[in-house]
Amino acid sequence: MKILGIESSCDETAASVIEDGKRLLSNVIHSQIDIHSQYGGVIPEVAARSHIEMINPVINKALSDAHCTWDDIDAIAVTYAPGLVGSLLVGTLAARTLAVLHNKPLYPIHHVEAHVYANFITEQSESSNLTLPATQPAFPMLALIVSGGHSQLVLFRDHGDYTLLGQTTDDAVGEAFDKVAKIIGLPYPGGPSVAKAALDGDPYKYELPKAKLKDPYNFSFSGLKTAVLRAVQREVGVDYTFPSHQLPERVSDTQRADFAASFQRIAIETLVDKAEKAYNDHMPASVVIAGGVAANQELRRQLSERLPLAIEYAPMQLCTDNAAMIATLAYYVSQHVSPTDPLELEVVPSLSMTKTAWRNVV
Ligand code: KG4
Ligand code: ZN
Repeated sequence: MKILGIESSCDETAASVIEDGKRLLSNVIHSQIDIHSQYGGVIPEVAARSHIEMINPVINKALSDAHCTWDDIDAIAVTYAPGLVGSLLVGTLAARTLAVLHNKPLYPIHHVEAHVYANFITEQSESSNLTLPATQPAFPMLALIVSGGHSQLVLFRDHGDYTLLGQTTDDAVGEAFDKVAKIIGLPYPGGPSVAKAALDGDPYKYELPKAKLKDPYNFSFSGLKTAVLRAVQREVGVDYTFPSHQLPERVSDTQRADFAASFQRIAIETLVDKAEKAYNDHMPASVVIAGGVAANQELRRQLSERLPLAIEYAPMQLCTDNAAMIATLAYYVSQHVSPTDPLELEVVPSLSMTKTAWRNVV
């Protein structure tokens, strides 16, 4: 079964063809990073306009890269939640129109749940050379989902059958990377630039706090971000009323690298502490990481060091936003759920993955 996936929930316009929920036939991603980096973050209206321009060329390239015509495509899958409303509208309208025109079943897919399914892609066509996991993760599976909008620990008993163990009570971890990058003067998106700067820094130079929460699986990152802000102000000799946007010019390259490394160490340790506890409490057969922050090498290093099982990581290109994960999840959804009416599908900008309930979600 070949599924065309379409993703446009934030600042990537993406389309991909996946066969049988594991074989990558094409993976086309148009990133808007160049457009948004001049503003230091995503501007929703600008994002939607760029999606409108790119959606058709991206879909056509995904089909041609996969050597598929519409006759070869068995179903269409599209992100309908969560995300920026204008961005979601472009992808879903394209998917709905194509489903009607070509008479294909249409599956609405939850973006955050789909991130986990990057880990189920284990095969690829000859033209692609990603380093993929050798086998699909076994159930029960513990998923650490860490992106720009979400930080969650989810225990999957099976496809579509999972429990949310914990989540962030304030900022997502990717958001904390992005905000800390701004404070110390590193370019958008903050995650990769903090990780890069951290390579030259001392992770023990600045003492930063780890949030202590009552619930053992919940996260909090806003206190850490504020602690970085205060430490930077102290380090450059200004008080807490000093405007944060004027801080970067006072921070030296060495301080920048040391702050990046010290923040990254604590942020990642926080994630790994909780993942380790969840692993010990639930003894899953596999552990996966998902979402943009799963591209972080320090997270991979610390997890592999602390957990007693071997983890097969998805390639970085499939951790950040893409449509291959959308088409992959859609395959498993299609085994249990009827397709949706293309004339009825609506976007939901804010929706927890535990509300999608396509099987046995508690
Ligand atoms: O999953 P994603 O592409 O979009 C969302 O669904 O949010 O995640 C984007 C987030 C951003 O906050 C970005 O800074 C972060 O992932 N990110 C990273 C790395 N690459 C991307 N964070 C830490 N280290 C990285 N290497
Ligand atoms: Zn995402």
